Amino acid sequence: MIVAIDGPAASGKGTLARALAARFGLAHLDTGLLYRAVAARLLRAGGDPRDAAGAEAAAAGLEAADLEAPDLRDEAVGAAASVVAALPGVRRALVAWQRRFAARPGGAVLDGRDIGTVILPSAPVKIFLTASPEVRAERRHNELRARGAGSIKSVVLRELADRDARDRERAAAPLAPAPDALLLDTTDLDAEAVLAAAVDFIVARLG
Ligand code: CDP
Repeated sequence: MIVAIDGPAASGKGTLARALAARFGLAHLDTGLLYRAVAARLLRAGGDPRDAAGAEAAAAGLEAADLEAPDLRDEAVGAAASVVAALPGVRRALVAWQRRFAARPGGAVLDGRDIGTVILPSAPVKIFLTASPEVRAERRHNELRARGAGSIKSVVLRELADRDARDRERAAAPLAPAPDALLLDTTDLDAEAVLAAAVDFIVARLG
């Protein structure tokens, strides 16, 4: 079974993807980490995320160890990730990596922005999560504080809005639901309710 989960930042993709992977014994890939790792490589080398040639070289040279870097969850890396993610050459360099992961025997859950639309358009199960910007900012703010990182809610809200706009408005693989995706607004749902809705959908889809 292959499950494609998409949605904007802090919509609950990671939480749902991990829960579905545990429930059905599937491997899980957080594809945002790939874009974060490209951005982190570039920033570490003193590069500018808007420099297409530098970003494409960072994507082409990506190694598994880059996905273990301790700074990948920093907000600065997330912001730079959404800039490099708009570059078609960077996206192209990461397609094969994602499809290879999905093709492993036993199945997989991938979460990101374009999994159901571009990476795995024939995945039998597609889910698109949304939530209000305020709730997403609150979740991200709490996540950052739980990790001991400084966080100001109004700044988090503004940065999420900037990132959403970049992800939705870019020409290359913009954030959008696939036509056959389950649309789930998680604004008023806790993680268990989201998991229950996703499991119902999977059972109805696959029998
Ligand atoms: O966890 P959060 O939603 O904050 O970010 P993420 O999923 O780690 O993704 C970071 C950035 O990478 C996003 O803002 C997107 O611009 C980009 N991304 C993408 O373009 N396509 C994906 N499949 C995953 C992430």
